[in-house]
Amino acid sequence: MRILADSVRIVEVGPRDGLQNEKVTIPTEAKIAYITALADAGLRTIEAGAFVSPKWVPQMADTAEVYRDIPKDPGVDYPVLVPNEKGLDRAIEAGVKSIAIFTAASESFNQRNINMSIDGSFANYAPVAARARAEGIRVRGYVSTAFGCPYEGEVPAEKVLEVVARLLDLGCYEVSVGDTIGVGTPMQVQGVVGVLLQVVPASKLAMHFHDTRGTALANTLAALEMNITTFDASSGGLGGCPYAPGASGNLATEDLVYMLDRMGIDTGVDMNRLVKASSIIAPYLDHPLPGRVLQACTKGTMPFATAGNTVQ
Ligand code: HMG
Ligand code: MG
Repeated sequence: MRILADSVRIVEVGPRDGLQNEKVTIPTEAKIAYITALADAGLRTIEAGAFVSPKWVPQMADTAEVYRDIPKDPGVDYPVLVPNEKGLDRAIEAGVKSIAIFTAASESFNQRNINMSIDGSFANYAPVAARARAEGIRVRGYVSTAFGCPYEGEVPAEKVLEVVARLLDLGCYEVSVGDTIGVGTPMQVQGVVGVLLQVVPASKLAMHFHDTRGTALANTLAALEMNITTFDASSGGLGGCPYAPGASGNLATEDLVYMLDRMGIDTGVDMNRLVKASSIIAPYLDHPLPGRVLQACTKGTMPFATAGNTVQ
C-alpha cells in the first residue's frame, strides 16, 4: 500500500460529543480529569464542552466550570460548541479561544437538533461567526448527516458541498463532515469527498465518522486516500448525538491511533496515556466503552510496540 500521509491531526471529541449523550450525570471534576489526561496523551485539539441550551442537553450544563478549571496546556486548543448568540456570550465570558458551530445537510435532522432550518441556521450563525472572529476566536464548522439522515435517508453530495461552502464563507477555518449515524461506506466517502474537493481544499476538511456499523476505520482509509488528514474521534468510542437515534459509537480514538501508528502515520498520541484517559471516565458511565483497542488493552490481549507506543 502506498504511504497515505506522514501525519494525521486528531480532533478529540470525547468530552463533548462523547459525554453529551450520557444519561448519568458525570461530575464536573471527572470531566476535568478526563480532559487533562487527554492533553497528557498528546491530543492537541480537545472539544471541552458545549454552550448549548441546558434544557436540550443537560450533560453539557457545566461547560463554563469545566472550561474554567481545566489546566490549560498552551499547546492545546479546547474548542466548545456554540449554537447561537447566547452560546457565544457564554463562550466569550468563559474566555474560550475557539468555538464550533454546527448545522446539517438534511432539514429534518437540523430541525430536531437545533430547532432551525438549514437556511435559518445560517442566518443564526452569520452574526455569531462574525462576532467570534472580531473577538479573535477561531471558528470551526460541522455539517452533520453528510452520509445519511435518520429521518430522510439518502443525502445528496451536492447538498453537503453547499453546506460546507456556506460554513467556509462564514469564515470557518475547517469544516468537519459528519457521518452522524454511521451509515457511510468507503466508496460513498470517496464520492462525497470527491465532490467536496472539486471546490474545497483538503486542508479545510475534517472527517467525523461514527462506527455504528463498523465502517469508521474503512471510511478513514478511504478519506486518507483522498488526502484528508484531519479526523475527529472520541476516546474509548464514547458517545453519539442525542438527536440522532442510533448514533452510538463515535470512531474510538484508540482504534484510530492504533491503525495509524501501525501504518507509520504519526498522530503525536501516546497510546498508554490515551487508555489511561479513557479509564478515568469509564467508571462514571453506566455501560462499558465500546472501543475495540481499549477493550483489548484493558483485557491485556494487546501486545504491540511501535515508535513510542508500547501498551503496558
Ligand atoms: P430553542 O428551544 O429553539 O431556543 O433551542 P430558544 O431560544 O427558544 O431557547 C430555549 C431556552 O433555552 C431558553 O430558556 C433560552 O434562554 C435557553 P428559557 O427562556 O426557556 O428559560 N437557551 C440557552 N441557554 C444556554 N445557552 C444557550 C442557549 N440558547 C437558548 N446557548 C437551541 C435552540 C439551538 C438553543 C437548542 O436547540 C440547542 O441548544 N441545541 C443543541 C443540541 C445539541 O447540542 N446537539 C448535539 C450537538 S450536534 C452533534 O452532536 C453532531 C456533531 O457531533 C457532528 C456529527 O456527529 O454529525 C457536531
Ligand atoms: Mg458525532
